[in-house]
Amino acid sequence: MIDFKCEYGKFLSPDELEARVSGVRDFVARVQQDEFGGWVDLPINYDRDEFGRIKAAAEQINSDSDYLVCIGIGGSYLGHRAVIEALGGERGRTKIIYVGNSFSARELQRAIKQIGEADFSVNVISKSGTTTEPAIAFRIFRDLLIKKYGEQDAIRRIYVTTDANKGALHDEVAAKGYEAFVVPDNIGGRYSVLTAVGLLAIAAAGIDIDRLMDGAEEERAALISDGGKAAEYAALRNVMLEKGYNIEILANFEPGFMMLNEWWKQLFGESEGKEGKGIFPASVVYSTDLHSLGQYIQDGRRELFETFVEIENENSGVVVPAASENLDGLGYLEGRDLDDICKKVAQATREAHTLGGVPVMRVIMSNLDERSVGALLYFFEMACALSALTLGVNPFNQPGVEAYKTRMFELLGKPGYEK
Ligand code: PA5
Repeated sequence: MIDFKCEYGKFLSPDELEARVSGVRDFVARVQQDEFGGWVDLPINYDRDEFGRIKAAAEQINSDSDYLVCIGIGGSYLGHRAVIEALGGERGRTKIIYVGNSFSARELQRAIKQIGEADFSVNVISKSGTTTEPAIAFRIFRDLLIKKYGEQDAIRRIYVTTDANKGALHDEVAAKGYEAFVVPDNIGGRYSVLTAVGLLAIAAAGIDIDRLMDGAEEERAALISDGGKAAEYAALRNVMLEKGYNIEILANFEPGFMMLNEWWKQLFGESEGKEGKGIFPASVVYSTDLHSLGQYIQDGRRELFETFVEIENENSGVVVPAASENLDGLGYLEGRDLDDICKKVAQATREAHTLGGVPVMRVIMSNLDERSVGALLYFFEMACALSALTLGVNPFNQPGVEAYKTRMFELLGKPGYEK
C-alpha cells in the first residue's frame, strides 16, 4: 500500500484540512461512474481471457524475438516504459525498443541499426489508431518485418493494441489478421498502463503482470471508499496551488525512475493543464539533479513544492568497502549500505528544501517490486483524477493536444486540412 505524508497541513488548521480532504473524497464515486473511469475498477474487473493471451504472446515473443519494437506515444508509450525501467529493465531474452514517440529520423535509424540481423516483433499501440508519429513508425517497421520474414511470418510478428471497433489500426487488423488486444472504450490513454496498452510490453520484458495487478488491486481496496491517502495528496496539491505554489516537482533518488517521472508528468499535465488552470508538473532524479536543479530548488523563485517518491524497505547489500588507508575520507561510511546512505541523503534533501521554503510531500512505496509499482500507478491515477476534479477541470480529456495537430496537418497538406 502506498503511504502519503505531508507536514503542510500546517498551512491550515486541522478542521480546515479535514474539510478540504473531505471535499475531495466526495469525488471518488464520480470518477468511478465517469464514462472514462474504467480504470477505477480495472484491477478487479479486467478481461481474464485477454490477460491470458497477453501472457501467451509475451512468451511467444521471448521465444522468437531478441527485440520487441513498441510503437506508441503519450499514454500508449510512457506507462510500460516507466514500469519496465523502474523494475530494473528486461529480465529475459527480449529487449524492448521504443519508437513512434517522435518524428526523429535519427531515432528510427538508431533502432533499426540496433536490431541489425537480430529477430524482432512489433507491438503497435494506439487507441485512436490514427496518431501520426506511431503510424509512420509502424509503416516503416511493418515493411522491415515483411522484408525480413515474408508477408505471412511478418503478420505473426505483429501485435496490435487498439480500439475494439474503430480506427485505421482496427481496420488493418481486420484486413490482415494480426493478433489484437483492446484499449477499453472507458479508459483514456494516460490511465491505460494496466490494460493491454502497457501489459504486453511489461510481460514481454519478463515482469510478473499478475503481481503488478495484485498491487493495483490492493491499492484500489485502500482508496475506493473515500480516496484514502490519494484524496489527501489531491487536496493538499490544490491547497499548494492556492497558496501560490504552482509548480510541483516529482523527486526521487532512483535513475530507473526517470520514465516514471515522465509518465507522472503526462498524467498530471494532460489531466489538469487546461482552461488556464493547473499545476505545472516537473521532475528531478537525485543525486544527479542535486548538482544541477538543486540550486534553483533550494534558492530560486519560491513557487515550487516537491513530492518525493520513496522506497521504505531497501537494503541493497552494497556497502562502502573498507580501505587500508582513508585517503578519500570515507572512513566514516565504511560498512554502510548504499540504500541506508541514500535514505539519509533523501532526509537531508527534504529538510534542506523545507528550510529553503519548498513545501515537501512524501509518497512512500513499501518496496521496489511489481506489487508496489502496481499500487503506485493506481495511487497516482486516483490522486490525479481527484485533484483535477477539485481544480474544476475534466481529468479525462486533452483538447489542447489538438492545436499542434491541426496546424501540422495544414502544413503537411493532409487532405481536409487545406486553409
Ligand atoms: O492520454 C492520452 O489520451 C494521450 O496521451 C494519448 O495516449 C496519446 O495522444 C496517444 O494516442 P493514441 O493512443 O490514440 O495514439
